[in-house]
Parts: sequence; structure tokens; C-alpha cells
Amino acid sequence: MKHRPIGIFDSGLGGLTVVKAIQKELPREKLVYFGDTARIPYGTKGPETIIHYARQIVRFLLKREKVKAVVVACNTSSAWALKALRKEFNIPILGVIEPGAYAAVEATRNGKIGVIGTEGTVYSGAYPEAIRRLKPSLKVVARACPLFVPLVEEGKLSGPLAEAVAREYLKPLLKAGIDTLLLGCTHYPLLKRTLSKVSGPRVRIVDSADETARSLHRNLEIHGVQLNGHGGVTYYVSDLSRKFKEQAQRFLGRHIQKVEKIFIENY
Ligand code: DGL
Repeated sequence: MKHRPIGIFDSGLGGLTVVKAIQKELPREKLVYFGDTARIPYGTKGPETIIHYARQIVRFLLKREKVKAVVVACNTSSAWALKALRKEFNIPILGVIEPGAYAAVEATRNGKIGVIGTEGTVYSGAYPEAIRRLKPSLKVVARACPLFVPLVEEGKLSGPLAEAVAREYLKPLLKAGIDTLLLGCTHYPLLKRTLSKVSGPRVRIVDSADETARSLHRNLEIHGVQLNGHGGVTYYVSDLSRKFKEQAQRFLGRHIQKVEKIFIENY
């Protein structure tokens, strides 16, 4: 079992930031990444669709790669589909919500946390719930930022446009006095510099990638960590567009040499 790879999936390529964190934490593990590039964005879709997509992807990862565990790198999928996946599949399935909530609870000093994410993630209430489960006394202000994903996809990570959008979205959170901003979306870590400029030096910005990798490590200690493997990642996507290379480079910080396109509706 421990020689099998770990599956990681996202609605697109944003989840590659989680791949990077997992590679740092567990360098010997073989990873398989699936990016649902044909069906992105997930953030604007309803729960039934998100659950249906997630099931297809986990079925694919099990059938094709016999993964020993799955990390749901997408926040929207983690928010809506985790429960259904855990019920249906008999392997460890981890999301990014709980690790992200933990990181935010650890970071806050004044007990006021801001959470930003897609419409789906914010509407689900999953982050405030997870934070309050850890510490009921904390105040959480959540806000959907639907323009951030297209901004990042277009490579507009900084400059007047990104700053204007960030200022508009963060206004109510800053007004509420948050000292911690939790990035509840795969794409937002790329906007970190802009978000930090807009929110000022008193606000700590946290994302879930590193904490998710640590939580995966703890989970695998029970089920078997790979100690003598050579690592490596196999990449699959559901659509291969002209922009793939540029976007993969943006999220991963290096080029992807080989990627296979899968017709995910078959699973
Ligand atoms: N991966 C999604 C998330 O983390 C963002 C992109 C999308 O809307 O699909 O919520």
C-alpha cells in the first residue's frame, strides 16, 4: 500500500501550489495530479455538480493510478464534497478547509479572522464552521471574491487593477478589524503581495497549502509513508488549452514536461 501514489486534484491548475507544499513535506512520495481544466470554474457551481465532479475524479485516480490517499486541493470541492467522498471511498481523503482553519486559528492574536474564497466556498460556510469548531469564541468575517480567479488566470497578479479589486473586496474585512486573512482558494496565494499591500502590515496572511501537507504526513504515518521512493509527479488534465504551459509555470514555478488529457466524463 505505501508504494502507491497520492492523488491530488483541483478544478484547474491552482492546486499545483498544494503539490509544491506536499513535495517539500514528503519528497519521496509519488504524486498524481488531476486538474479539471475542462470544467473550471467550480466556484460558481452548485453542490450537486461539485460532488458529481469530485466522485468522477476520485474514481479515475483509483482506477488508473491506484492511489493510497487523495488530497482535495480545491477549496470549493473540499467545502461541498468531502463528506460524500469519505462516505463512498475507502482510502484517506483530506481537504484543505480544516488545515486552513487551523493555520488561521494559530495565527490570530485579536481573535478576528477574515476568510476569502469563491462564492461556493463562502456560501457553504465551511471555513467559519471549521474555525469555530477549533475555537468558538473567534469572530469570522467571510467574503466571496469572484474576480480574483479570472485575475490570476490572466496573470494580473499585481498593479492597479489587482489592487483596486483587492481594496474593494477587503474593505469590510479590514473595517471589522481582522488581524488574519485566510486565503480560502487555490488561486489567492499568487495575489499575496497585492493582498498584503492592501491590508497593511498588521494583517497576517495565511493559506492552507503547508498545513495540508503536514496533515497529510500525519495521516500517512498511520497508513504508510514512502521512505525510499524517488518522488515525481504524473499530471493529468481534462482539457489542454494553449495557456496550459504558462499557467502551470505560474502556479508551480517550473515547467511541466509531460501531461495527459483525460475524458473525465467516462468515469
Ligand atoms: N480551485 C478553486 C477553489 O479553490 C478556485 C477556482 C474555481 O473556481 O474553480 O475554490
